[in-house]
Amino acid sequence: MIEFQNVSFAFENNKEVLRNLSFKIEKGESVGLIGANGAGKSTLMKLIVGLLTGEGKITIDGIEVSRKKLYEIRGKIGFVLQNSDDQMFMPTVLEDMMFAPLNYGLSRGEAEKKVDEVLARLNISEYKDKYNHKISGGEKRMAAIATILAMDPEIILMDEPTSALDPYNRRIVINTIKELNQTKLIASHDLDMILDTCDRVILLSKGEIIADGPVREILSNKELLEANRMELPLSLT
Ligand SMILES: Nc1ncnc2c1ncn2[C@@H]1O[C@H](COP(=O)(O)OP(=O)(O)OP(=O)(O)O)[C@@H](O)[C@H]1O
Ligand SMILES: [Mg+2]
Repeated sequence: MIEFQNVSFAFENNKEVLRNLSFKIEKGESVGLIGANGAGKSTLMKLIVGLLTGEGKITIDGIEVSRKKLYEIRGKIGFVLQNSDDQMFMPTVLEDMMFAPLNYGLSRGEAEKKVDEVLARLNISEYKDKYNHKISGGEKRMAAIATILAMDPEIILMDEPTSALDPYNRRIVINTIKELNQTKLIASHDLDMILDTCDRVILLSKGEIIADGPVREILSNKELLEANRMELPLSLT
């Protein structure tokens, strides 16, 4: 479903941020992407949707990520960005949530029904007509997650979905992620959330994959985590 073959990336004139990455994520897998600040997690996700372009080959469902295929690829992938201000660009939450469903062919009525369902599932129905610039950081994160769920994409990328959320909203998001059958890649420092929602973990260090395996195996390896500026999840201490 997602395949990287010898992918490298450097921002202009800088050293490589991602170095020769190769891995595959199969359909329906839920994969956590972890690593210290600056390890390259967000960069890796931006390459998947073609927001950045590097060396090597990335394929989604057999389609190579390239400028020509961006429309098709972005129709398959919902991406919750690390910074929700970069994601919510319409005046209101409703308009943002309607944008992708309308763009990919639903009627207004169908799209609004989908929006209402997702808002209810996240227990944020009261956000529907709010202005994006008049909601708090955590509220905006919830709205951004709702926007992606309303797209109903085949693949979900989430960059720090639980950062900024209060424990109640964090729990709703975790439970919602667990119910999704889609292929998921979730970058986070919230290792308890990763443990709860993912089967497999990829650990990045300075742009290289230094571990890739079952979630419990990696998240219970205290030395490996500490060497990468992380701590054991609370539930494994
Ligand atoms: N626009 C940019 N121009 C130049 N360098 C950048 C840019 N964006 C990120 N970088 C560098 O690329 C490296 C990887 O950044 P990235 O955002 O992928 O890290 P991350 O693993 O997502 O970190 P975090 O946990 O803080 O979100 C960092 O060293 C960062 O300084
Ligand atoms: Mg990041």
